[in-house]
Amino acid sequence: MPNHPRRANTIAVHSVDRFVFSVPDLAEAKRFYDAFGLDVREEGESLTLRTFDKVRGDMAGGGTSNGGGGHVWAQVFQGGTKRKFEYVTFGIYPEDEAAFVQRIAASGLQREAHPLAARKGGIWFTAQDGLVVQLLVAPKVSPGVKSPHDVSAPMVAQGNAPSRSKTPRVHPRHLSHILFFVSDVPAAMKQFSDLLGIRLSDHSGPGIAFMHGAHGSDHHLVAFAHSDGLGLHHSSWDVGSINEVGAGAEFMKGQGYERGWGVGRHVLGSNYFYYVRDPWGGHAEYSFDIDFIPAEVDWPAADHPPEDSLYVWGPALPPDFIVNYETAQTAAT
Ligand SMILES: [Fe+2]
Repeated sequence: MPNHPRRANTIAVHSVDRFVFSVPDLAEAKRFYDAFGLDVREEGESLTLRTFDKVRGDMAGGGTSNGGGGHVWAQVFQGGTKRKFEYVTFGIYPEDEAAFVQRIAASGLQREAHPLAARKGGIWFTAQDGLVVQLLVAPKVSPGVKSPHDVSAPMVAQGNAPSRSKTPRVHPRHLSHILFFVSDVPAAMKQFSDLLGIRLSDHSGPGIAFMHGAHGSDHHLVAFAHSDGLGLHHSSWDVGSINEVGAGAEFMKGQGYERGWGVGRHVLGSNYFYYVRDPWGGHAEYSFDIDFIPAEVDWPAADHPPEDSLYVWGPALPPDFIVNYETAQTAAT
C-alpha cells in the first residue's frame, strides 16, 4: 500500500505543486516577495519562491520546522504590461497517473506543455477561460494535518508582546491556496471536480467557491471568484499566529506596500487574514488557522449567504479588492 494519505477509490490531485505567473518588472517582484517573507531566488530567466526551511515561530519565542522547505511554490517571469497568470501544476500520486492520462484524453482538452514550463513532463490541459493546468507526479506538499498554532504559552509577571523596534519580517510556512477569477464559477467547480477530483468545501451562490484536495488539505486548495475572465486574484501563505498576520501587515506597510485588506477573519475557512496588495493589483495573503479537511472526512459543503462569503469581522473591503486586473482595460495604479 502506498505510504501517503489518500481517500479510498478516488482519483484526485493532492497539492498545488506550483503556480506560475509573469509581471512587468521582475526586480519589483523580488523586492515584494522578499519583504513578504519568502525565499526568493533568481533562477535563469525567472524568480522562484520558496518558504524557508526553518522559520522563527511566534514572536514570543518557539520555532517550527517547515514542511515546505526547499520546495518551489511559485515561479515568476518577466513579461507584458500587467501581472498575468501563466499555468498551475497540481501534484498527483504515481499510482493515479494512468487514470489521469485516460481522463484528460477523454475530456478532449489535452494540450502541449506551456512554453514557460520548467518541467515539460506530466499531463497538460486547458480548462475553461484558458486556465492552463499541468498534472505532475510529485510528493504531497499540501499539509497532512492542521497547521499548528505556533504560539508559546503566555508568561506571567512579564510582558508577552514583542518589541515593535525588534519586529522582523514574517516567514510563511507553506502555500495554503490560490484563488482564480473565472467567468463561470459553477462551471469551474464542476470541471475541477470532474477532472481533478477537487471537492467543494463551501460556496456562495455563483459568486465564489472554495474547494479542497480529496487526499487531505486546508479548507481550500483552490478557490474561484466570478469575473469576466481568467485572473489570479491571490496566493495565500500560512503563518503561525494571529500576531504574525498583523506583524506581516505592519512590516509590509513599512516597506512601502501600504495597500491591502485586513486584519480580519473569514467565515468560510475560518482563517485570520491580511491581504497585501502587490504592485500590479494582485494580492498575497497571510493566513492563520484555516480549517483542515482530512482525507477521510466528507465536509458538509453548503451554499452560504453573500454576507458570509467574505468575512466575520475586519475593515471594510477596499473598493478595488475584487477587480480582475488581468482582464481590466486599465492597469492597476
Ligand atoms: Fe485566501
